[in-house]
Amino acid sequence: MSEDTLQPETKQPVSPKQQKLAINFLIRFYIVFKILRLYAENNELLQEQTDLLYQNLRELKEAAPEINFKIKRESIFFNQSRLKFSLANYPIFKFLLEEFRKREIGLLTIEPEVSREELLRAVNILGQKRTSTTPFEDIVNELVQQNVERIRLEKLEASEKLPSPERSAARLFFLSILHLREVSERNKENEQIRLNTTRRLIQSIFNHLVDNESFLLGLTTIKNHDEYTLNHSVNVSLLAVALGRRLGLSRAELVDLGLAAFFHDLGKIDTPLEILNKPGQLTDDERKIMELHPHQGAEKLVQLREFRRLPVSAIHVAMEHHIKEDLTGYPRLKIKSDVNLYSRIVKVCDFFDAITTKRVYRKKTFTRSEALSLMLENIGSEFNPVILKTFVQMMGIFPVGSLVLLNTGEVGLVVENNQEARFLLRPRVKIIVDSQGQKVDGEVVDLTEVDPQSRKFRRTIVKEINPEDYGLEVPDYFLVQAM
Ligand SMILES: [Fe+2]
Ligand SMILES: [Fe+2]
Repeated sequence: MSEDTLQPETKQPVSPKQQKLAINFLIRFYIVFKILRLYAENNELLQEQTDLLYQNLRELKEAAPEINFKIKRESIFFNQSRLKFSLANYPIFKFLLEEFRKREIGLLTIEPEVSREELLRAVNILGQKRTSTTPFEDIVNELVQQNVERIRLEKLEASEKLPSPERSAARLFFLSILHLREVSERNKENEQIRLNTTRRLIQSIFNHLVDNESFLLGLTTIKNHDEYTLNHSVNVSLLAVALGRRLGLSRAELVDLGLAAFFHDLGKIDTPLEILNKPGQLTDDERKIMELHPHQGAEKLVQLREFRRLPVSAIHVAMEHHIKEDLTGYPRLKIKSDVNLYSRIVKVCDFFDAITTKRVYRKKTFTRSEALSLMLENIGSEFNPVILKTFVQMMGIFPVGSLVLLNTGEVGLVVENNQEARFLLRPRVKIIVDSQGQKVDGEVVDLTEVDPQSRKFRRTIVKEINPEDYGLEVPDYFLVQAM
């Protein structure tokens, strides 16, 4: 039986020939889509490729009873059958999938009578970059305005929309807190811990970090006072993976480091809450109990039933994260030997997160840059110089999450640091208080922007300010992005 006699009725599986023609059509579609971004409509190359696209379409409509392309999960379906792209064509497929998603297009139907000109008009409308919040509606309107009637679109189902990276990063952050709570509870009951889940969480943290380090660092401004240890452990884990990445650790090492950081304070499960949350100074006895947590944590980790899956460094980190670079601190070492690299990394992140968090027993909560300067005073004695310097470089002079007063009278929230050394004092900031002192949901501005007339910087940081003095909740600004 020749393939031509295989004229399928609706819902009949798509033949290999149809598959091939459909893929050819999409590849040509992609080419025209790309050319349209570069050239005017009368361009020769564009005309030539449009002819070929129309030719592809004619072949396709001879072979298939209807032509529709549907976006579903990570695939493109042609007449209900999933298109299988070769490895060579995979980037094209990925590109189209993403562009369709961005425009919220779920289904594209092409009627057989469509003309070459109509097809070109449609590709042109589809190809335009969209920044509005209603890309799909805009495209449909333009199709109507330009008399494109034989190409119809349906909107992507809500369940098919991918969450924004910020949203999934924030979700991951809270999932990690929930997971750690479960781990702690299971540990108390001596139940099995799902270390695989922990590992997967840390791997996702790593993936997000590669995409958007600044946003993830911003999430560490979230401080949940009721569940301090849980929240703190997730923050330390995030910071440690980001720092380890800057120090050049491999992906596998970073997952181990993240895991170790995640469990660094596991021993605090055994510390009585009255001591953990005691306002004011601890007595000597109380302090001794508090200082048991490294030992207790290490012991717990050794006892884990899934011990084989846990990197040994996690035990080192639990044990050593309060030991200083000069080997003082606690637990006191009988033999003065070097501490593990991961412990030194976690030490820096642990200290930073702890002093930037408001606690009942601490009179002062440090702003993010005050914390860095305090830490730099103790470089070499408390913190490893290379690790601390890398941390300071990563955080910048005004770390993500800092509030800054600008010379315009506005208040900005640092959302991204400029990595160029000469622009360390010129991060990107979101304006949250205008020059009249009103709280606003302002734009994100780049402090390297120069006013073309005066040839001076438009805005400059005057000083860092403490969010508490202004009654501003920094974490809210990061969470809003994640909604
Ligand atoms: Fe600790
Ligand atoms: Fe800690």
